[in-house]
Amino acid sequence: MQLTALKGTVLACSLAFSGATLADSPSAEMLSNTCFGCHGPNGNSVGPAIPSIAGMAETYLVDVMNQYKEGARGSTIMTRIAKGYSAEEIESMSAWFASQKYAPATQMADAGKAKAGAKLHDKYCDKCHSEAGTLADDEAGFLAGQWTPYLKASLTDVMAGTRDVPKKMTKALDKAKKKGGDDAIDQLLHFYASYK
Ligand code: HEC
Ligand code: HEC
Repeated sequence: MQLTALKGTVLACSLAFSGATLADSPSAEMLSNTCFGCHGPNGNSVGPAIPSIAGMAETYLVDVMNQYKEGARGSTIMTRIAKGYSAEEIESMSAWFASQKYAPATQMADAGKAKAGAKLHDKYCDKCHSEAGTLADDEAGFLAGQWTPYLKASLTDVMAGTRDVPKKMTKALDKAKKKGGDDAIDQLLHFYASYK
């Protein structure tokens, strides 16, 4: 009796969200629930050090979880967490989060810095991070509307070499830093925080 009621609730929620098959299974939603404590309800984080993951490409999420699991991507906590899940569970959760809607975070930004950052982005980053880095199909995380402290930490990892990104991205970052000087990263971050 109780199980039927639970199934009904989960099914109603799933139907409200999307029609994807794998993402609709109750176990996908129940598994994903264990991530809400940090990544926020449905994967839209409310804390600045933790990224939102709602609406990212399924393939990107699977890839990232496997990188964490294998210790191939620098992390404070995610390697420990990812190790607790099987390949099937990771696929199922990734499909579920991919079917959720990304809600960009509202953050303060300096208009002047954001303008300078927009120029740098268009020149050096846009070809891989289109629409200010909000397109799931790019499979490169989200930039605009992603929490600034998290993005800053990601870029620090990229520059320290503990984060696997295409060589072309490292080169693009170097060029942006040459062009924008010491403020370049800060300007890019203000642009991503301001983009609507
Ligand atoms: C204790 C808090 C916590 C929990 C629970 C947690 N995460 Fe995370 N997650 C983080 C933090 C912090 C980061 C940033 C990387 C790091 O420092 O480990 C992150 C990063 C990520 C990223 C990278 C996003 C990007 O932009 O590339 C993905 C994907 C992710 N988590 C998925 C999950 C999934 C799926 C679960 C549930 C199984 C989960 N996380 C549970 C804290 C958490
Ligand atoms: C050649 C393509 C390419 C270019 C050019 C590029 N990137 Fe990336 N970037 C990627 C890919 C692919 C990833 C995802 C890597 C992974 O799997 O973790 C990424 C990841 C990132 C991340 C981490 C996102 C997260 O969720 O943690 C940030 C931040 C970032 N890029 C910023 C930039 C900035 C700023 C520029 C321009 C100076 C830039 N990128 C140029 C391809 C590129």
